[in-house]
Amino acid sequence: MKIDGIHYRTIWVADDGWSVEIIDQTRLPHEFTIIRLQTADDAARAIKDMAVRGAPLIGATAAYGLCLALREDPSDEALARAYDMLAATRPTAVNLKYSLDAMRDAVGKVGHNARAEAAYAEAARLCDEDVETCRRIGENGLRLIRGVAEAKPGQTVNVLTHCNAGWLACVDWGTALAPIYMAHDAGIPVHVWVDETRPRNQGASLTAFELGRHGVAHTIVPDNAGGHLMQHGLVDMCIVGTDRTTATGDVANKIGTYLKALAADANDVPFYVALPHTTIDWTLTDGVAQIPIEERSSREVTHMTGRADNGEIVTVEISAPGSGALNYGFDVTPARYVTGLITERGVCSASREGLTSLYPERKG
Ligand code: MRU
Repeated sequence: MKIDGIHYRTIWVADDGWSVEIIDQTRLPHEFTIIRLQTADDAARAIKDMAVRGAPLIGATAAYGLCLALREDPSDEALARAYDMLAATRPTAVNLKYSLDAMRDAVGKVGHNARAEAAYAEAARLCDEDVETCRRIGENGLRLIRGVAEAKPGQTVNVLTHCNAGWLACVDWGTALAPIYMAHDAGIPVHVWVDETRPRNQGASLTAFELGRHGVAHTIVPDNAGGHLMQHGLVDMCIVGTDRTTATGDVANKIGTYLKALAADANDVPFYVALPHTTIDWTLTDGVAQIPIEERSSREVTHMTGRADNGEIVTVEISAPGSGALNYGFDVTPARYVTGLITERGVCSASREGLTSLYPERKG
């Protein structure tokens, strides 16, 4: 993604060759601030406090967190300590475990003195893999958007998305937004309904920021508007991301996704979920029962952060003082409400058969 003419990934190794830089997503869209991570603790804090977020980027940041840990101390004990600390940062996105396991495997193959170097090489490989995977998801999703565009020549394709599953959630491109960027670049008239995505407003702040920078037409809507828009024929398709997908095609994504899927089902609007293979948890078969759902601070519900008229970024209380609040970060959409999964290998039905048709190595 280009910001002010410069192409940025969301995470990279700094000019010193070892520390790691990220974009502070808690300051967006108001400030574009870069933070430097120098320790595994810094990386864990960035994930926990959501300076970085989005399933693939959480995984990439954890990978670099292990690099930073091993640079200081390449021992088995330090590796295990950093692995456990990073794995405990956020429970729902399975990409975190995928990355940490890949890193542990890579550094396990070399002697202690070579561990840090092997770790940086593997983290870079994982990031490059994520970029290429998302690019392919974009190409596969583009075919679906093109199909809709061809069915209504000369008219705009309206896509609804929830949360942020774009460049900012990955290393580049995004998952749900990659097909939209490619459709826009291919000259297909596309407009995005951006769910604001309470309580942290990733849609209003991050998805809108990204789409705006890429020149994609979009409109922010309150989270409750999707059903109304669908009832009135204003949504051609939904595309969302996922943090964990079961082997049977259930998907966990940002809280509120399930309600959008129900509304889409009731109104015959296709509901697609875009995902890299790193999001599939092949060990699970029942998303509602088995996917761990993160519960975050109630303060994210009772307070909101934004830019005041004087330009300062401020946090204000928006609810009745003293009232309790509940803040589940994700919900599970059962496979039966998902029209199709858009992966780097193609589009399939949200089912074990569908997934194993694309990933035959997982059969049996
Ligand atoms: O809590 P967040 O902001 O990390 O949640 C992010 C999402 O729910 C995304 O939709 C998901 O990670 C898919 S990202 C490609």
